[in-house]
Amino acid sequence: MAEIIKEYSNGEVTIVWKPALCIHSRICWQNSDSLPEVFNPSEKPWIKPHGAPTTRIMEQVKRCPSGALSYFLNPDKEATSLSTSQSENARVEILPNGPLLVHGTINLKDKSGEVSEKAGVTAFCRCGQSANKPFCDGSHLATQFQDA
Ligand code: SF4
Ligand code: FES
Repeated sequence: MAEIIKEYSNGEVTIVWKPALCIHSRICWQNSDSLPEVFNPSEKPWIKPHGAPTTRIMEQVKRCPSGALSYFLNPDKEATSLSTSQSENARVEILPNGPLLVHGTINLKDKSGEVSEKAGVTAFCRCGQSANKPFCDGSHLATQFQDA
């Protein structure tokens, strides 16, 4: 089946939405630094590209941990999902009833000892139910994971 990809443009930036990749972290619309003026799943269309300045939209899209949101600057057509040039120090955030998020560029050593670089936001599973450990795949929602 063909992957669903939708695009929403304000003339300067185009937000690219790949619903199959969303892990329902709610970072874009229900977090302390979310952007509900642009991302609001209770409205249709759920993405409103005119709801905030272009720079703020780009900043928010870079926080998407799954790659479901990406953007390209018009007319560049160069999709940028997670910025690999972020220089911020890594910051760790626990999402209530959800994954552990690491913001920033990190080197991740897996169980076989292989090291890979992760940039942007990386979501690690805390509920134990992800089929893609150590990363969150959204299963915490289906299993209604609750912090104690
Ligand atoms: S995974 Fe990305 S698109 Fe899905 S809710 Fe989280 S921030 Fe939004
Ligand atoms: S925390 Fe998201 S799948 Fe476990």
